[in-house]
Formats: sequence, C-alpha cells, structure tokens
Amino acid sequence: MARTRRPLIAGNWKMNGLAGDGVALARDVASGARQAGWTDRDLLVCPPATLVAAVVEAVKGSGVLVGGQNCHAKANGAHTGDIAAEMLKDAGATYVIVGHSERRADCGETDAVVRAKAEAAWRAGLLPIVCIGETLAEREAGKTLSVLEAQLKGSVPAGATASTLVVAYEPVWAIGTGKTPTTPEVAAAHAHIRKVLGGLLADADKVRLLYGGSVKGSNAAELLAAGDVDGALVGGASLKADEFLAIAKAA
Ligand code: PGA
Repeated sequence: MARTRRPLIAGNWKMNGLAGDGVALARDVASGARQAGWTDRDLLVCPPATLVAAVVEAVKGSGVLVGGQNCHAKANGAHTGDIAAEMLKDAGATYVIVGHSERRADCGETDAVVRAKAEAAWRAGLLPIVCIGETLAEREAGKTLSVLEAQLKGSVPAGATASTLVVAYEPVWAIGTGKTPTTPEVAAAHAHIRKVLGGLLADADKVRLLYGGSVKGSNAAELLAAGDVDGALVGGASLKADEFLAIAKAA
C-alpha cells in the first residue's frame, strides 16, 4: 500500500548535550541524511533549548529539521526559566514537542496546559507534536484507549488540521525501559487515536501519528510497519547518529 502520509522520524535528546557533543551529533545526523539523499521522509532533531541555534547551523542544507522540547503558553513575560515558542522559532526551530509524559509527570502539565502550548506553537509558526500515552497501571486496568481518548480531546486545540498537528503515542511504561507494546497493540492504539481525531478534525486521515517508547534500529522496521504508524519519536537511540539514521532508514 502506498504511503499517504510522509514519515517523520523525530529525535528527542531530552536533557542531554553540551555544545561539543551536541553539535557533533547534529553534524553526523546531517551528513548521514545527506548521503542517504532521502526525499520521502522528514528527519527532526529536538536538542535542549541551549543548542537549538547551534544545531540549526550544524544541519543547514541537509534537510534535517530542528525542534524544541517544550514551550510556554505565553509569548513573553514574567516566567523565569521558561522558553516561549517565539524564542524557539527565532532560534530556527520549526517544530516543538508538547505534553511529553516527562513534563506531564515532572511539571504537572495537564491536558489544558498542553493544549495551550500547542496553540502557542501555532501562534509562533511552529508545528506542535502533541504527546499522549497511558501509564502501566492504566494499561493493566484496561483503560489504555479511554485514557488516550481523554488526552486527545483535552490536548488537541480546536481548529487543528493535518498540516498543523502531529500526534505522538508514547506509552509511559515503554519510555526508556527497553519494553515496547506488540505490533498489534501499537496498531490498535493508533487506530483508536485516528478514530478519535476523526471526531475532532476534518482531515484526520492525513495527520501523522508517531510511535515513541524504546524505538531503536533493531525494532524500528517492525514498529513502523504497524497500521497507522507514520513515524517515530525517539529518545535514547536519537543520541547516537548511526542508531537514529538506522531508524530513519527503516521508515
Ligand atoms: P526512549 O524515549 O526512546 O528513550 O524510550 C522516547 C521519548 O521519551 O520520546
């Protein structure tokens, strides 16, 4: 079956990377992407905010995109230590991750906060990647699909379209653990996400849905082949250029 949605392979570096190793990693990803000459998929790296501008410079001309990992809902003001979507845009980012489970857990971000951040991304001209995912307790209680549905309804702003929204499904228990859902479990979650999106926006069939949680070179082909999976949000494995490029190759 021909792909109707352009795959997106996104690397979330989390709180990792200083100027030396971060820029070197970005350069290696860029040179691998250049060599591969892909024109049918998007590669995105999301370094810590301190490195966004340097990484934008390091990947210039390679087609590799750069994003932030979080943004504040407001454009500016008295919010010490926070970063506005406008600032990420100003540094050369084109995407921003919002509502990652680590921020939902560490910073108490609710669906309403995530939604406001996604709207802030639009205001600044960034494409938000809205993250959702169930905890292990929720999965074991059989609540996975209802949790995903509630998170989507609460986190996706009104007026979203396939060109202004990417959704990442990341089971909390699969992040950084080496555990992944089975391919049918991923497919079932993604099918449900697409169905729920169908009630929220007109072109839900075109929205890119990423899977995230312990994706690596060796399991990427299988996970990316699951129904309704249009790419990956990669944490740990995105810190090694060859692993990240292997995942991109599998897309
Ligand atoms: P992981 O993280 O690939 O290290 O499991 C994924 C994520 O949190 O985006």
